[in-house]
Amino acid sequence: MQTQSLWEHTLTFFPQFLAALKERTSPDATVAVVGASDGKFVLPLAAAGHRVIAIERDPFALHGGEFSLPGGTQAHAPGLTDRLKAEELDERVQIIGEDFLTAEIPGGRCDAVWTSCSWHYGANHHSPLADFVRRMRLLVREGGLFGAEFMMPVEEHHQFIEHYTSPEGLARHFTPAWDVLLTLRTNQFIERPHLGQPQDHTHRMGLLIAARTPR
Ligand SMILES: C[S@@+](CC[C@H](N)C(=O)[O-])C[C@H]1O[C@@H](n2cnc3c(N)ncnc32)[C@H](O)[C@@H]1O
Repeated sequence: MQTQSLWEHTLTFFPQFLAALKERTSPDATVAVVGASDGKFVLPLAAAGHRVIAIERDPFALHGGEFSLPGGTQAHAPGLTDRLKAEELDERVQIIGEDFLTAEIPGGRCDAVWTSCSWHYGANHHSPLADFVRRMRLLVREGGLFGAEFMMPVEEHHQFIEHYTSPEGLARHFTPAWDVLLTLRTNQFIERPHLGQPQDHTHRMGLLIAARTPR
């Protein structure tokens, strides 16, 4: 890739999701990415031949701009739209620049849905986690795939915010119409500074991959 995502070096279970995607869907499957940011996952999915629906509410992530590096120097980030153009992948990707909790997106059409550390954002706390998860589930066709990696509680106040969840807590959102295929979790780990976090900081992450059972 000619450009890098600002999130390029953060830890991810995406390879586990990709493996399930390869096993259960076709190479041109449509994948929705919720909280697509500047395309860390959108670009590799599109480059692999998938059609992608990228849902992102933040104009900076979509269109780029200036930002401060640790130490105060200014840098320019290209954003999702310019990154897609640079790689000539823009025709494979439909961008929905809206809040996922209110966007009207036709249900049941995607072969898979993926999100990475999006629902714990404060802007989503006004609505129960169940709403976010239900909206993601509704995008997926019968036989399709749901994948989410998410922040688990680390700090004291996270215990009171249900959006910092666990694989077991998240699995309760899946009815018998779904098979939970894989859950994973990390221990606490130190992550290097990234956008919005200028210091080393501690995270703990979970993963859940589920398949919608055909009727
Ligand atoms: C931590 S960042 C993603 C980092 C991740 N490693 C990646 O590149 O996918 C999460 C993204 O989710 C987006 N997001 C969170 N809640 C959202 C919502 N309700 N609708 C759309 N985007 C949302 C944020 O704006 C942010 O860009």
